[in-house]
Amino acid sequence: MSVLDEPLCFDPAVRIAARPGRVTLVGAGPGDPDLLTVKAARALAACDLVLHDALVGEGVMALIPRQAQRVDVGKRSGCHKLSQDGIIELLVRLAKSGRDVLRLKGGDPFIFGRGGEEAEALASAGIPFEVIPGISAAQGAAAATGLPLTHRDHARSLVFVTGHAQTSAGPAGGLDLDWPQLARPMQTLVVYMGVETLPLLCAKLIEHGLPAATPACTIENATRPEQRVLAATVETLPLLARVQGVKPPALVVVGEVVALQAVLGKALVTAA
Ligand SMILES: C[S@@+](CC[C@H](N)C(=O)[O-])C[C@H]1O[C@@H](n2cnc3c(N)ncnc32)[C@H](O)[C@@H]1O
Repeated sequence: MSVLDEPLCFDPAVRIAARPGRVTLVGAGPGDPDLLTVKAARALAACDLVLHDALVGEGVMALIPRQAQRVDVGKRSGCHKLSQDGIIELLVRLAKSGRDVLRLKGGDPFIFGRGGEEAEALASAGIPFEVIPGISAAQGAAAATGLPLTHRDHARSLVFVTGHAQTSAGPAGGLDLDWPQLARPMQTLVVYMGVETLPLLCAKLIEHGLPAATPACTIENATRPEQRVLAATVETLPLLARVQGVKPPALVVVGEVVALQAVLGKALVTAA
């Protein structure tokens, strides 16, 4: 029986242990298990209860001991297994009942991973927690495709944003971003969760002064066997992505460094 099936977890009269368990927020990286930190691999090998997201790679999941309980609390677009509030409630309840919990998240827990909200809830409930960082999708994608995120000649700043539209439509039809800042030259822009809003994103960047010919690409499934890069310009990428059926998980990268990827990607030697 999974922990989600146990009535205890959702029972308001849940047993409160004398001492709460400990929660470890662990970054699983972008997919390739070789990109786990040594600390994360050790924590996985020693765990007995894991709450994991949908984006955690199979190779990382395989490192969880067979006897450990696994709960998929993963959120896939349009098909949420548990709401974020539900995940937090479950974490707090399990820890209060004395269980040690490993909370496994794709990439890094504190980069668009809602680890901040989970840490806040744990802190206010008085539950001891630890954070083990992970390689974020942008870093994994950059290394795996030969795309330097910064470069003295092409990008002296680097910005990560979410392309996830807000439910209450903002000034740009739900994408409430600082467009003048994002359209600056000599900068690399990495957009997480930007597949759906890609046409709007590119249109707003051009409207705010980014040259239409600026190199831009999508990187799907970075560091995984299905990895795919589609490179174009900020003007032509939305059509290319639609025609080629780009799907999450994918990043959008915009900036002059994208042009280097075509050369460096070919020269890149990947470990077997
Ligand atoms: C909820 S965010 C989680 C980000 C994660 N915490 C991190 O640091 O990478 C999910 C988004 O991350 C990006 N992402 C995660 N893994 C990816 C991968 N292997 N390749 C490309 N993009 C990825 C996609 O934009 C995806 O929609």
